[in-house]
Amino acid sequence: MFTLAHMSDIHLCPLPAPTTVELLSKRTLGYLSWKWNRESRHQRKALDNLVSDLKKRAHDHISITGDLINLSLPKEFSEARSWLNGLGRPQDVSVVPGNHDAYVKIPNEVGMGQWAPYMASNLLGLKYAKGLSLQFPYVRVMDKIAIVGLSTACPTPWFIHAGKLGTEQVDALEKMLSRLKADGLFRVILIHHPPLLLPKRKQLQLGLRDVLPLRKVIEKEGAELVLHGHHHANVKSTIPSTYGPVPVIGVPSASIGSHPKNPHSRYNLYKIDQVRGRWRCELTARGKSPDSSKIQEIEKIKIIGG
Ligand SMILES: [Fe+2]
Ligand SMILES: [Fe+2]
Repeated sequence: MFTLAHMSDIHLCPLPAPTTVELLSKRTLGYLSWKWNRESRHQRKALDNLVSDLKKRAHDHISITGDLINLSLPKEFSEARSWLNGLGRPQDVSVVPGNHDAYVKIPNEVGMGQWAPYMASNLLGLKYAKGLSLQFPYVRVMDKIAIVGLSTACPTPWFIHAGKLGTEQVDALEKMLSRLKADGLFRVILIHHPPLLLPKRKQLQLGLRDVLPLRKVIEKEGAELVLHGHHHANVKSTIPSTYGPVPVIGVPSASIGSHPKNPHSRYNLYKIDQVRGRWRCELTARGKSPDSSKIQEIEKIKIIGG
């Protein structure tokens, strides 16, 4: 039995005060949006309570699907690195970035480079990343579980929250999924922007630009589970594939306090095991239900197997 925890859209707060120079960019818009809207939604206490509950539950690994920060300020990247250090060791936590982690372009060493140990293949995974020179996808193999991390994070124009993988990453993913399947591993894909088909206007504004090539790869090579964030919602979908339907599951933001439009902060625990060659996977969601102030189990469902 392997237990994988999934949290997303940390939107770490409080937001460090940006300098005037740092605001001379798309950050102006993000800062106003933070002050007018998001600051009241994202609460550090909600995040801390969730993490404290997770630490009390048995788990083998934690996955985080992006938007760790808000405006891509250098100070936010270093604060998020400290937060990650408090959550677990790099080998125990896998991270993929989201659009807020690439809000504007900044040098790697003061930006996402600080999270690099949490976004790299492990020794067992290197076999499957052989010949693939990109940072993403990375792959981590633990027991019979393979975690494949993708990056959809790229700076976008004002008012656009979309993501993009790029042809090289999609091609590398195809090879990786095929190699992992050949060795009979349970393949979990981590991605911030979900591989979902949205209405055209929404797709352009906040969707994944290359959703169709990605879906084609998943349809051909299959995967056992796709975990995503971005929508700050409890989302469950499937993608048909050669090997059967692939569950695609999004978790609400980990730091949302009480808000009428967004579900309260939540994380999911996936219990994965194999019986007589068949995979089984059960999801337990933990968070605050509307009628209680305590974090508790709010959903338990079989994702794969009876
Ligand atoms: Fe987000
Ligand atoms: Fe996002």
